[in-house]
Amino acid sequence: MRPLEYKDGVLKLIDQTRLPTECEYVDCSTYEEVADAIVNMIVRGAPAIGVTAAYGVAIGALSIKSDSKEDFFNELEKICDKMRSTRPTAVNLFWAIDRIYKKALSNKEKSISEIKDILVEEACRMDTEDVETNKAIGRNGNELIKPGSTILTHCNAGALATCDYGTALGVIRIAHESGKNIKVYADETRPYLQGSRLTAWELQQQGIPVTIICDNMAGHTMKSGKIDCVIVGADRIALNGDTANKIGTYSVAVLAKENNIPFYVAAPVSTIDFSTETGDGIPIEERKEEEVTHIKGIRIAPEGVPVSNPSFDVTPNKYITGIITEKGVIYPPYETNIKKLKE
Ligand code: MRU
Repeated sequence: MRPLEYKDGVLKLIDQTRLPTECEYVDCSTYEEVADAIVNMIVRGAPAIGVTAAYGVAIGALSIKSDSKEDFFNELEKICDKMRSTRPTAVNLFWAIDRIYKKALSNKEKSISEIKDILVEEACRMDTEDVETNKAIGRNGNELIKPGSTILTHCNAGALATCDYGTALGVIRIAHESGKNIKVYADETRPYLQGSRLTAWELQQQGIPVTIICDNMAGHTMKSGKIDCVIVGADRIALNGDTANKIGTYSVAVLAKENNIPFYVAAPVSTIDFSTETGDGIPIEERKEEEVTHIKGIRIAPEGVPVSNPSFDVTPNKYITGIITEKGVIYPPYETNIKKLKE
């Protein structure tokens, strides 16, 4: 199940705002449309928005009319800035834009038309690589899963949040495919309901047993002995292992520690921000009030009440049992072991 498909200058995205009741697609043929799709969460999830932004830059480059190299690169920078302004927390977005921009710069000597082709190829390469990376994360994480386990997850770190396969759900998928007879509990993940709308839908499609709980049921469910481990995705991991992920992840991690349940983060190395020392340096996106005060356009809170809607939180490294990457599972001390991934 792929949330995005590029063909001939058009990026087709599953409209994730409408799942699970409707499975509709949105076509983006300008970079502005791609940027809007990221802002409005038609596409979401750290790896998926990274690759989407790369396609956005390539689509934007194709539309540049000028045959002056200087104008071309000025325009390209503007397109990259537009993409960077879409969402602040997931570092994969910035990683992907920097990678595609550097690709253009390193081919500066070629003709504009050749550079355009190279940018499209690079976005497609990132797309393919992401799927391979997720499969490797899945294989590495599968080693940690005991047969018959019940796994709790939060938000959606599945195929829909990546180019396919998923990170946290990639581990779950490989464990399922290898006959481990696993079960999943999915937190519904207020306010945007990525757990109940997307994770439950995705796992159902794959035939993996899934039960939804409201976020405030996680503690009780763990204390009742129903959960063997927690696996979540990540939007940005600091050098010391502090991890930003969907709002509510921190509470789940604290509850897991209290109940002696291993808590794993599954993410590609591109989610590590090697330039940020600790979680305190991670920007947290604040989203619009309506996500909290309304569900499907229906008001569920009194008019005029102040609302806070941070979209992510940071789980301190001390709550994280291990970080599952495509290069292997990283354990504490994260301060030294994460740096080794860069070498
Ligand atoms: O706001 P979202 O839906 O983009 O947030 C997504 C998450 O928090 C995911 O857990 C994270 O991006 C990892 S996706 C593999």
